[in-house]
Order: sequence, then structure tokens, then C-alpha cells
Amino acid sequence: MNNNLKEKVCLVTGATSGIGKVTAQELARMGATVVILCRNRTKGEAVKSEIEKAYHDAKVDLIVADLESLKDVRRAANEFKSKYSGLNVLINNAGGVNNKRRLTTDRLETTFEANYLSHFLFTSLLLDTLKASAPSRIINVSSGIHIQGKIIFEDLQTEQRYSWMSSYAQAKLAQIYFTYELADRLSGTGITVNVLHPGLVSSNFNSHTKGIVHVISGLVFAVAGISVEEGAKTSVYLASSSEVEGVTRKYFYKCMEKESSRLSHDKEVGRRLWKVSEEMIQEKIGVEISH
Ligand SMILES: NC(=O)c1ccc[n+]([C@@H]2O[C@H](COP(=O)([O-])OP(=O)(O)OC[C@H]3O[C@@H](n4cnc5c(N)ncnc54)[C@H](OP(=O)(O)O)[C@@H]3O)[C@@H](O)[C@H]2O)c1
Repeated sequence: MNNNLKEKVCLVTGATSGIGKVTAQELARMGATVVILCRNRTKGEAVKSEIEKAYHDAKVDLIVADLESLKDVRRAANEFKSKYSGLNVLINNAGGVNNKRRLTTDRLETTFEANYLSHFLFTSLLLDTLKASAPSRIINVSSGIHIQGKIIFEDLQTEQRYSWMSSYAQAKLAQIYFTYELADRLSGTGITVNVLHPGLVSSNFNSHTKGIVHVISGLVFAVAGISVEEGAKTSVYLASSSEVEGVTRKYFYKCMEKESSRLSHDKEVGRRLWKVSEEMIQEKIGVEISH
């Protein structure tokens, strides 16, 4: 059963296409005020008006920010807080793969920063607002590929060895460590934190791969991929269902609890990654995370 979202504020990152776009549409249809964070203003405006056209009383707002810049993430969190005093659901959805190793403006590897570190910062900066609105929910969109991931502390930025797959798997595993560690730290606050695998979804995901990888992945997505509507179901379920009220620190797939990889339960790695992430953010933009 779905909770009434009429008085709720939901924030979805990466809503210009795929899973994030459908998630935003669905939550708006259910009556929530939906704030979409997109890096491209034109695309963001187009999604906003598409939702408003589809549902006449939809309440959609746009924040433009690039998750490849920690300063931009901080500005986006401040922009949100200047407009809204409450946040009921935060969905950290944006992400993807990068064919070649590329550095962000912070001189960090793009996959690591866009999928994981920026969401770590964004969530941290919004925690006071989420606490003020408790019970509230944080939902991280990870991937089943995390099973192949390992946090290589000696080479987190993949300087020594880069492959799009291992970098992506590491970033998606990092999101799971973040979920579990944050859920522990927020115990008793009324904020739940969960993570999900959306399935193999025929979105724009494969447009960022090239060459033979693009061709093979294209075939795999064409044969086995599910629709974006199907792919968004677990995000929408975790955001809206009364069945998951109070449920926290869980990994979901197809709207059901599943086991994440054995490695992802190593609390020592989770704590170490947390500390390293705090230090990176402190070094890059001087923000001290305290929770
Ligand atoms: N598709 C799958 O099979 C699959 C499987 C497992 C997990 N996932 C995860 O599901 C999430 C959604 O992916 P999708 O399949 O819906 O792919 P998608 O269609 O490519 O959507 C990705 C979204 O993230 C946004 N984004 C990427 N980098 C960004 C940045 N630096 N700053 C702001 N926004 C950024 C994209 O914006 P632009 O439009 O500007 O590029 C887009 O809105 C991702 O986290 C992905 O890793 C997908």
C-alpha cells in the first residue's frame, strides 16, 4: 500500500532520463512535490514540463547541478534548503559508466565522484532537513554489479588500473557501504536508508559506452533489458510504500529484500571508506561532515 504523498517533498537526482525520470513522474502522479536535480537545464526543463503536462496538478521543481563538482553539489544542497524546510524522500539515482578514465573538476575519477562521493556529500548536507521531516527516507540506487566490486583503498581513483567495469562496480559497492554505515549512524532518528538494484534496464545507460562494449551491451540490453517503467518500480516502492515504513539498512531488488555481496557487510571497510570520503571532501572543498 502506498503512503499518501500529497504533503511530501521528494528529491530525485538524475531525472532527465531512464529510471530517475520515471521515478519523478510516478511520485508526482502520486501527489508529491518532486524536486529533480539535473545537470542539464534544457533537459531538466523538458522533463518538468512533460510531467506538468501529464498531471495538471503536479508540483515539480528543478535544481541544476553537476555531480562531477563537489562545489556544485554543496550549492545545490543550499539551493534546496533555501526553498524547502522539509525533505521526506531523497533518491540518489544519478549515475552511470565512463568508457575512458576521466577526471572531474575536483580531479577525482568521474565514476567514483558522480555515482558515489557527490551523493555522500549531498546526503550529508541534507541530513538536518531530512531529520526535521522524520519519518523520512533515503534511497540509493546501486547495482547488482557491486558483486564484482572491491574497494581498493590504495587506488580508489583507479590511477594504476582503469576499466569502466571495475570502476563502476567499485562505485556501486561504495554506495552500499555508505547505505549501511549511514543507516547505523542514523539509528533512532526516524530516517531510514536503503539501497537497491533496479535490474537490467533499457535506459540511456549504454549510451556512455563505446566500441565493442557498446555493441555487446546493446545486444544484452535489447535481449534481457526491462523497461524503464519496470526499472523504476523498486525506487518508487521504497519511496512510497507503507510496507517499508521503518525498514532500514536493506538491499532491495524487484521490491523485495535481498542479500548484497558478502564483502558489502564488512563494517571495517565501510567505516574506513566513510573516513576517506570525509577527508577527500574536506581536502577538496573544505567541508567538514559531522554526523
Ligand atoms: N540501466 C541499468 O541497467 C542499471 C542497472 C543497475 C543500476 N543502474 C543505475 O541506475 C541509475 C539510473 O541509471 P539509468 O539506467 O536510468 O541511466 P540513464 O538513463 O543514463 O540516466 C542516468 C541519469 O543520471 C544523470 N547523471 C549522470 N551523471 C550525472 C552528473 N554528473 N550530474 C548530474 N546528473 C548526472 C543523467 O543525466 P544526463 O541526462 O545529463 O546524462 C541521467 O539523468 C544509475 O545510478 C545507474 O548506475 C542502472
